[in-house]
Amino acid sequence: MDRREFMRFSATTAGLMVIGGAATGCAPDPAPPTTAFPQGVASGLHDHQAVVLWTRVEPAVLPVDEVTWLLSTSPDMSEIVAADTVPVSAASDHTVKVLVELLDPDRSYWYRFVAGDDTSQVESPIGRTRTLPLPSSNPPSLRLAFASCQSFASGWYGAWRDVAARELDAVVHLGDYIYESPSIQLLRRVREEPLFEARSVDDYRTKYRHYRADPDLQAAHAAHPWIIVWDDHELHNDWDRSIIDTDRARYDAAMQAWFEYQPVWPVDGNRIHRSHRWGRLAQIFMLDERQYRVPPVDSLFGGGFMGPEAASPDQTMLGLAQRAWLLDGISEASADGVRWNVIGSPQPASPLRVVDLDTPELRALEATLVKHAGFYFGMDSWDSYAGERDLILEHLRSQSTAGTTFLSGDIHAFFAGALQADFDDDHSPVVAHEFTGGSIASAPGGPHTALVEGGGRLSPGFDFVNGTRNGYGVVEYRPGSATVTFMGLDPVWPGAMPAPIYSTTIA
Ligand SMILES: [Fe+2]
Repeated sequence: MDRREFMRFSATTAGLMVIGGAATGCAPDPAPPTTAFPQGVASGLHDHQAVVLWTRVEPAVLPVDEVTWLLSTSPDMSEIVAADTVPVSAASDHTVKVLVELLDPDRSYWYRFVAGDDTSQVESPIGRTRTLPLPSSNPPSLRLAFASCQSFASGWYGAWRDVAARELDAVVHLGDYIYESPSIQLLRRVREEPLFEARSVDDYRTKYRHYRADPDLQAAHAAHPWIIVWDDHELHNDWDRSIIDTDRARYDAAMQAWFEYQPVWPVDGNRIHRSHRWGRLAQIFMLDERQYRVPPVDSLFGGGFMGPEAASPDQTMLGLAQRAWLLDGISEASADGVRWNVIGSPQPASPLRVVDLDTPELRALEATLVKHAGFYFGMDSWDSYAGERDLILEHLRSQSTAGTTFLSGDIHAFFAGALQADFDDDHSPVVAHEFTGGSIASAPGGPHTALVEGGGRLSPGFDFVNGTRNGYGVVEYRPGSATVTFMGLDPVWPGAMPAPIYSTTIA
C-alpha cells in the first residue's frame, strides 16, 4: 500500500507517540555490544535431510576468525551427531551460515556455536531446529505461526515471546522484517531505533543487528526453524523490479544483507521463492512478490479503479518463471495426493474493493466493462495484478484437489475470508481461504480497515477483520481440517502479551 497515505491516516487517527530524536541522514554507530553472540542463533527449514544454522560473532567482544557449530539429538547437547569449524570474517559482517546435510527426516535437532581459544571458549545459546518429513510420508499435523511487519521502534515483541513458547514445527515470516526508513517508525515510536534511511550494505546490516538484538525475537528464532521471504521494507517502500535498473547498488546492498542475516540457504542467486513438502499433508509455497513484479498500475493516494491494465495477466507480480513454477507445483502436489496447499504470500491475495462496479446491472448496461470493475484500496497489492490473480485462482479450481490457504501479511490488520475462483460470480466455487496475520509491531489501522470497521463494506466481504490489534496467526493443518487462530495484542509496553481474538476451522 502507499505508505505516505497510510501514514497520513494513522498519524491523525492513532496519534503519535514519539520518543527520541529527529531523523538523520546516515547510520549512527550502534551501542557497543557486550556479548559474543549479540544476535543469538537462528535456523531455517530446508528439506527432509538438511537444516540451515545461523549466528553472528561480535568481533569487538570475540575477535575470532573461525567458529565451531555443534548439532545434537538432545536438548542439552549431550548427543552430538555433527560438528565442524567454519571461517568468520568481516566480508559477511561476521555472520555464519551453515547447511548441515545427511540428517534423519522429521525430527528435531538442537544446535549451538562455540568460539574462542582453549583458555576461553564462549558458547552461544542453544537453538532447536528440525528436518521435514519424508515426501512420501503421512504426517498427522503441521503447526505454523505466521507473521510480518515488525517495526522495532513501533512495538515490543511480546508476540515473538509468545511464539517462542509454543509447540510449532516452523515459523513463517512474510516480510517487512526490518523497516529501511524512519517513516513507519514515526507513526508510533515506543522504543529506540536509530532513525536513518538504509541505502548501503552497512546500513542494512545495522538494521538487522539492531532488530535481531531483541531478546524476544531471538527466542522465537532459537525455538523454531523459520521460513522467510521478504516484502518491500527489506529494501525500499513499495519497490518493484524497476529498481534493479534504476538503483542497482541499493538492490545489491539489501539483498546481500538479507542473505547474510536470514537463515535461508541460497540456491540460485537472489531467488527466494521455494516450496517445502510436508509429506502428503502439505506443500508450502513461499512467494517473492517484489523482485520480478512489473510496476503496479497508477493509483490515486494508493487506491485506484480497476482498469484493463490490471486485469491483464501480462501485468505480473510473480514474473512469468515464478508463476509457472507455482502453477506447476500446485498441479504436482495434487497429483501426489497432497492434502493442503500453503501459500505464503506477503501481499494479501484477497481483493480490497471499496466500490463494486462489476454487478449484473452495470454489466447489462455496458458489456465491455472490465472484469472486477470497481475502486480498490492499495494498488501496490494483488489488486494491481488482478488478471494474474484470476489465473492462479482458476488454476486452483481446475487443477488442484488440495485445500488451499493463503497466509499473508503487509497490511497491518487481521483478515480472514474465502476466495472464490471468480469473486464476481455468486455461483463460483470457493477455491481457497486466506488468513492475513496482522503485524507483529508496526502500527495497525490502515484506511481500509477503518472503513470496514467503521461501518463501510468491502466487496467481496470477509469473515473477520480487525484493524486495531497487532499480533500473529497460528495454524494447525491436519488431514481432516485446518484450524487458524489470530493472536492479538497492543505492544506499546514491554510486558504486553497476545491473546486469541479469532479462531476458525476449515475442512
Ligand atoms: Fe509492513
